[in-house]
Amino acid sequence: MAFPPQFLDEVRARVRLSDIVSRTVKLTRRGREFTGLCPFHNEKTPSFTVSDDKNFYHCFGCGSHGDVIGFVMEQDGLTFPEAVERMAVEAGLEVPVSTPQEREREKRRAELADVMEVVCAFYERMLWSTDGKAALNYLRRRGLTDETIKRYRLGFAPAGNLLKSAIISDEIPEPMLREGGLVRKPDDGRASYDFFRDRVLFPIADARGRVIAFGGRNMGDGEPKYLNSPDTPLFDKGRTLYGIEHARKAAYDRGRAIVAEGYMDVIALAQAGFAESVAPLGTALTESHVAQLWKLTDEPVLCFDGDKAGQRAAGRAAERVLPLLEPGKSLRFVSLPSGEDPDSLVSTRGPAAFEAMIEKATPLDTMIWSMETSGRVIDTPERIAGLEKRLEDRTLSIADRKVQFQYQARFREKLRDMVNARRAGSGGRGQGRGFAGGRQGGRGFGRDGGWNQGETPGIPGPRTGPNILKKRREQVLLATVINHPGLLDVFAEDLAMINVSDPMLDKLREEILKVHALAEELDSSSLKNHLATTGNNEILHSVLGPEVYVHAAFAREDAPEGDVRSGFLETLSRQLQPARRAQLEEARQFFVEDPTDENWERLEKLKSDSRAPGSAAG
Ligand code: UTP
Ligand code: MN
Repeated sequence: MAFPPQFLDEVRARVRLSDIVSRTVKLTRRGREFTGLCPFHNEKTPSFTVSDDKNFYHCFGCGSHGDVIGFVMEQDGLTFPEAVERMAVEAGLEVPVSTPQEREREKRRAELADVMEVVCAFYERMLWSTDGKAALNYLRRRGLTDETIKRYRLGFAPAGNLLKSAIISDEIPEPMLREGGLVRKPDDGRASYDFFRDRVLFPIADARGRVIAFGGRNMGDGEPKYLNSPDTPLFDKGRTLYGIEHARKAAYDRGRAIVAEGYMDVIALAQAGFAESVAPLGTALTESHVAQLWKLTDEPVLCFDGDKAGQRAAGRAAERVLPLLEPGKSLRFVSLPSGEDPDSLVSTRGPAAFEAMIEKATPLDTMIWSMETSGRVIDTPERIAGLEKRLEDRTLSIADRKVQFQYQARFREKLRDMVNARRAGSGGRGQGRGFAGGRQGGRGFGRDGGWNQGETPGIPGPRTGPNILKKRREQVLLATVINHPGLLDVFAEDLAMINVSDPMLDKLREEILKVHALAEELDSSSLKNHLATTGNNEILHSVLGPEVYVHAAFAREDAPEGDVRSGFLETLSRQLQPARRAQLEEARQFFVEDPTDENWERLEKLKSDSRAPGSAAG
């Protein structure tokens, strides 16, 4: 869409660049300009300047520059029209539409919006009239103050009043009421009737605060509990978030957005101080909802009931958002005590309790991990592989390559930690107790899994085959460097890189590397002394024992230097392979994502390194 130039000028004139920039960048005034750390590249001294007079920002470090619209585009990854629209909202301007058809459609929508406004005001008056006494009492009983009721423009629809009302029927032709979803005309020719009858009404507004639909609650136990307006030219349920008109400013101000399940939740939360709350209208979160939420904040927090249905809904939301993820954008999850919604929670436990839950919201990756682990015993190679496969399938659904890559790395790490934690907990032998992720009871999704607390060992340690060999090689390598610390001058980095799976050996390795890094010159006996006195005595003896030497005579203290070197090198290169492969793979990915010379050189270097251990130190 092409915006008229005057409109763009108006937007630029009304929005102060430094106000927008200072939401994300700490600015310091310097004369008529501001300076700060550039948000578009990494820097330690400020080379980013902002001038309100010129409506221009410029970075002397990376050269990025532009006006307020350009800044918003770059900062929030928006397209030009999106940035213009956001800044227009900021400036309190209506976004113009350009084609005649669009103008015609917009005109009709505007007329319909006027109708909705008249009807909304009518329903509001009804609530405060004698006819609305019971409805008003209902809302007050539910804890809403009169101020809140007015702020959210709650209303009351008595039976059949809209059409009978002289005010309405004089002002609005019936077809308009029908188009607005306010009146129904049966196909069989019977008389038209009001859509909302004897219900408390929640007006639903768009982001600019125009009423576009209503939700009506039955005050008794009758079904359905809530009735929503049908979709109209103004109202698309799947694109609407209840409360957005109030939540927007609060979300900007606080850098946070809360997503609840229903009308009453949003209103009760706002009354309790959480004005940054919205809710979809009884539907699952759609792509459009997610996009709108991400305009409010990077990581909106979704609240779900801790019961089974709520947890399933949370899982579906998590699943649904994966393909949509972008760098920096995500969702976080709060699982409320079973049977509670935000409305009931703030009224029984108070705002502070809710605030605490929001603060501790579970990140999406933890959520996905919990979905795949909680309630399961993951204790056999097949089950571990099954978990790995399921996690892989999840990450493959992430469309953004950078995010996908990070998810893969994160889950690999978690899997490794899970295996290691299990081993550490059982001394390398499985007790068959099983690993049960997540947690029991109403809390639902575990915070960070609960699996790595070291108390639920479950994956049997490797007893045979490649893993025993691998551990033996780890012992051999460590024995060799302990007896011949001079090797560390060349191979310290390689030693740091190998993936040591036994935690005791890993600790020994860390200590050796630490001493080497700190000591000027290191001889074998002082190294051994140090290790023996830093809690590594037992492991030291097992490493320097006959069980190890029988496999590798070159590791002995008195082995000829040539044998030591060649034996060490051969063992090292075998051990390095998996770690190198992972590194290579990572470097390759980096290059594919971002084909700079720098990334190419890194890849090249790794390739040649993988053929020659020891070169990493040089
Ligand atoms: P809930 O059944 O959880 O109701 O529905 P609630 O929000 O807690 O409402 P109160 O506290 O009983 O008044 C959550 C949301 O699902 C939609 C509404 O948007 C509701 O707020 N819903 C629910 C419907 O659209 N129709 C229904 O019949 C029920
Ligand atoms: Mn409720």
